[in-house]
Amino acid sequence: MRLEGLHAVVTGGGSGIGAAIAQALAREGARLTLVGRRREALDAIAATLPGACIAQADVTDRAAVDAAFASARAAHGPIAILVNNAGIAPSAPFAKVTAEAWRQTMAVNLDALFHCCQAALPDLIAAPSGRIVTVASTAGVKGYGYTAPYVASKHGAIGLMRALATEFAHTGLTANAVCPGFTDTDIVGDAIANIQAKTGRSADEARAQLTRFNPQGRLIDPAEVAEAALWLCLPASRSVTGQAIMVAGGEVM
Ligand code: NAI
Repeated sequence: MRLEGLHAVVTGGGSGIGAAIAQALAREGARLTLVGRRREALDAIAATLPGACIAQADVTDRAAVDAAFASARAAHGPIAILVNNAGIAPSAPFAKVTAEAWRQTMAVNLDALFHCCQAALPDLIAAPSGRIVTVASTAGVKGYGYTAPYVASKHGAIGLMRALATEFAHTGLTANAVCPGFTDTDIVGDAIANIQAKTGRSADEARAQLTRFNPQGRLIDPAEVAEAALWLCLPASRSVTGQAIMVAGGEVM
């Protein structure tokens, strides 16, 4: 139990990669708070985690984040681990990206990191081994077509981790990003449906459009991303900070 008793907050913990990370941290003894908007999804995952609590919030809303983190602290004490996982991945040709879609993507994928990191900061720098892990993406280090706001926001997410890693290197806090390639979750399910609708391809053909980026020719399992995030959270990983760790089957950056 390498995280025995440590309080870990996971945003977007009700599904996909966030749920897998919460389960991996709980297996190592962490006490979990799941932050998100969808009560039923959060309840279903919390039911699989001993003693987990839920703090409902839209992470784009600073006041809601502050209230959620206050209730998390009241339940489980100071926050030792923050996992910024909530995200959205809309797709459109750049010429058709609306101002609203641009702003919404920045709000969820980047502004929310500002809110959550700042809200948890006093606890994280007071902790012996404070940890921030942000679920960025391979789109944080390379470009992909038809998803410019996502690519820009994920580059920003990695930049923020590098900034915090440097600014807080004199404390016990580390800040890192994990960067999955295409991973088998709802986001990719939606992308496959979108490709089918726009191109008339079959589900298998649409899926192949995405797996071709991965030299291993498959979608990543959320549990694989969770293992990388867990490793970054361990006290023994204290020298690993400011990094963007690819979990992408060797996809070339
Ligand atoms: P998902 O759709 O299952 O998870 C996203 C979660 O974020 C959901 O639980 C959703 O409710 C939550 N969320 C969205 N907007 C929110 C808001 N305003 N406030 C609170 N919660 C909000 O999909 P997945 O794949 O598990 O995504 C998790 C993270 O992984 C995202 O940041 C995504 O960009 C990233 N990622 C996913 C990849 C993939 O291929 N699935 C690849 C690379 C990165």
